[in-house]
Amino acid sequence: MYDPAQPAPWIRVRSVDKAAHYEELAVALDALLASESDSVANAANAAAAIYHALPELNWAGFYFLRDNELVLGPFQGQPACVRIALGKGVCGTAAAERRSVLVPDVEAFPGHIACDAASRSELVVPLLIGDALLGVLDLDSPVLARFDEADRAGCELLARVIARHVRR
Ligand code: SME
Repeated sequence: MYDPAQPAPWIRVRSVDKAAHYEELAVALDALLASESDSVANAANAAAAIYHALPELNWAGFYFLRDNELVLGPFQGQPACVRIALGKGVCGTAAAERRSVLVPDVEAFPGHIACDAASRSELVVPLLIGDALLGVLDLDSPVLARFDEADRAGCELLARVIARHVRR
C-alpha cells in the first residue's frame, strides 16, 4: 500500500531504458492506486504521477466517456477543452477507433484540437476494459516528435493498469 510518509513510488523509477522505465512506472502506479476505489482520486493521482515521471510533457490527463462524448477528467497542465465528440481531434479519434494515436506533429494532424498552444506532439491511448471504452489517456509535449513506438507500448501498459483502477 502507498504510504504518504515514504517517498512517492514513482520517484524510485530509475531505469534509463525506456521500456523498463514504463514497466517500473506501471508497477508503481498499480501500488499507488490499488488501495483506493474512488475513480476521480485514482485518475488524479495517475495524471500527477505520469506528469512527473515522464520528461518533456506539458499536459497529462484523462477524458472519460460520458453519454457518448468525451468529458475532461483529472489532469496536470493548462486548462483544456471540456467536451470532445467521438471522432474529433486526436482524443476523439483514439476513442472512436479504440486504438492509440501517436502524433509526431500536431500541426500535421487534420482536426487536431489545440488546447495549449505550446503542444507540438501528442499521444492518446484508450482506456479499455475488454471492449468497453472508459475514456482516454492524453499526453502532450512541447517537443516535436517527443513520442515513439516505445512510448506508445509503454503508455498502453500504463492505460491497462489505470483502467483497472478507474472503472467505477
Ligand atoms: N489535442 C487534443 C485535445 C485535448 S488537449 O490536448 C488536452 C485533441 O486533439 O483531441
